[in-house]
Amino acid sequence: MSENGPETAGNLIEQARAAALTAYAPYSKFSVGCAIESVDGEIVTGANMENACYRLGICAEISALTAARQAFGLDKVKRVAVAGGHVADGALAGSDPVTPCGGCRQAIYEAADLSGLDIEVVSSNGDGTRAVASTIRQLLPHGFGPANLKDAGA
Ligand code: THU
Repeated sequence: MSENGPETAGNLIEQARAAALTAYAPYSKFSVGCAIESVDGEIVTGANMENACYRLGICAEISALTAARQAFGLDKVKRVAVAGGHVADGALAGSDPVTPCGGCRQAIYEAADLSGLDIEVVSSNGDGTRAVASTIRQLLPHGFGPANLKDAGA
């Protein structure tokens, strides 16, 4: 992982931070936004959505991947930006970059395996002042994806 490089993803990070303001996170009070860019430069966003039945909440990345599937297809996902923290004075705030949880890494890996692209993942803090760039294969080494099902029976 590197702490530079995300400059080029500045716009995507800002879209992830803005999307976090649409989170429904009354239980954790932790708002997360995700912005996904396609190989053609199209951008979709998502935010976490919690539930009174806690385990049914969904992450921002899953929300955004669903939008990506609708807009351009999982095989066109090029770059994912994630930002999280708390909302203060109408803006997302927080000091530590938010990297995707394990389940979300698996979901991003699915998209990467479909396209063969090593999807870029940029994790920002809530303040938008720190970002860490990596790829999904760095975040989920030796992952299991669609390609691993090739030996299944017909
Ligand atoms: N969350 C995400 O949306 N994405 C992640 O990668 C980490 C966690 C959400 C889930 C829950 O609504 C809140 O953050 C606290 O875990």
